[in-house]
Amino acid sequence: MRRSRRGELRPAVFAVATLATMAALITVTGCSGAPPVTDTGLESPDASPGATEPEQRVDPLPPPLPQPRVDVGYRMPRLGPDEAPGLVPRLAAMAAPELTVVARWATPAGSSVLGDALDARFASAVRSYAEEHGAAWSPGVDVAPGGVGAPCARQPLTEPVGASLTVDCGIVAAAGTVLGERLIVVRREGAIATAIDRSTWYADASTGELGDGAALYHPGAEPRVLALFAEALRSAGLAGVADPFAGLTAEGVRAVLADTIVTADDLVVPVPLTSAADGQARHVISVLVPVRLVRPFLSGFGAAVHAAIASGAPFEPPSAPTGDDRVDCTLVACVSITFDDGPTSLTDGLIDTLRELRAPATFFVQGGAVDRRPDEARRLVDEGHELGNHTWSHPYLTKLPDPEVQAEIQRTQEAVHAAVGVWPRSLRPPYGDIDQRVRDLAGLPVIVWDVDTNDWQRPDRATLIERAVTGASRGSIVLMHDTHDSTVDAVPDIIAGLRDRGFTLATVSEQFGGALPGPGELVSHGPR
Ligand code: NI
Repeated sequence: MRRSRRGELRPAVFAVATLATMAALITVTGCSGAPPVTDTGLESPDASPGATEPEQRVDPLPPPLPQPRVDVGYRMPRLGPDEAPGLVPRLAAMAAPELTVVARWATPAGSSVLGDALDARFASAVRSYAEEHGAAWSPGVDVAPGGVGAPCARQPLTEPVGASLTVDCGIVAAAGTVLGERLIVVRREGAIATAIDRSTWYADASTGELGDGAALYHPGAEPRVLALFAEALRSAGLAGVADPFAGLTAEGVRAVLADTIVTADDLVVPVPLTSAADGQARHVISVLVPVRLVRPFLSGFGAAVHAAIASGAPFEPPSAPTGDDRVDCTLVACVSITFDDGPTSLTDGLIDTLRELRAPATFFVQGGAVDRRPDEARRLVDEGHELGNHTWSHPYLTKLPDPEVQAEIQRTQEAVHAAVGVWPRSLRPPYGDIDQRVRDLAGLPVIVWDVDTNDWQRPDRATLIERAVTGASRGSIVLMHDTHDSTVDAVPDIIAGLRDRGFTLATVSEQFGGALPGPGELVSHGPR
């Protein structure tokens, strides 16, 4: 398995002051070359009305091979969810008087070499950034004005004001088992970007290989590759300007190449232009080198990545169950959506929605319903959702004598175990009706809620979404029922609204690091 040597965020090492003048040149000349020069002053034969000589046949010249070039208006590939489906959004955000952090990226479903590496990289980056600014990391929501949007989507992140660290991402390639994700990490002090780190990461799920753009090349070949990109700059009418890559250390060369974008025809390296006035990067030009020229310098990994992308094969996302997307609720702001009273005829469709949106949920099932619908109960478990006990016949437990309380709970435990082979890990008392006696009898942690959508009253759709989304805070447990089609229909908008505020969905036990509080403990929300 290949891993970058650059395990941590570093200040940008690439700042090319001389490119400020080059930017001006490019603006004037463009990149299409100078107009053809007529050096003879003679009229062409076609323009001569009196020409009588027979037309001379000339074999057409083969089209010129593509050459290294600069493209000022080049648009980086940026794939949407339709082209790169099944990715899991990640967002770590924090707002405090001394700093703002908004980091968003995307990982493949389940456990993957790319996802695990990015999660570890940004967990470490955001925590150490907070520490540098004298703050303990505390994940928040509502940090980005206007919402955070979908990670790696096309809309840019709003730049925070003041000291900040932002991470934004774009999916640049998704073909077969290969995924390419571009990450831009920016540190700002006031309005000034003090460090920008750009890198593009490629992972091949079929081989488990992972590397940034620099890993696409043979080790040791980097200077020769960079020479090709420098040639493109020169051929763009920039001759006479100092080689912008001159004087870079080996690590600096690697940092430039780390942001290599692979297309079917070219390898593209964005070159930031810095303003002489304040050193802030304001423009990025793209330097393109045809793959045929770089091919001799590609590593085996680089050749495989290019072959997949050139093939144009559709992306094959991993088929991991929804619950396999691990979440660290000390890093991100978690929220749990919960569904009571099922399974029902609506549960299958809800599971499909949750899978499509990669959203884990917690289901408090009734024993009788599981008995009637064991297939739906099994699907819930197979997809990694969490199952809790919602009694057999939905009584007010505090009004029952001890043996009946125990029978309601125990009979449901056994029905669920018989149907799906797992024991429910928690109890949700019907109507939230609980007292110390029932807690002592439960033998399970008792999970209630802090956000009640009152969906059983069938509020209109907007009201239901508003209650679930606006009512949530970090650690919230949101009560809904998969017995109402109006609820199930609103789930996609509820998930989108929660994510736009900056929440990550997690099961209830995941909010507690996988270990729920002990039997009889009453829980209405996760750790805050
Ligand atoms: Ni209920």
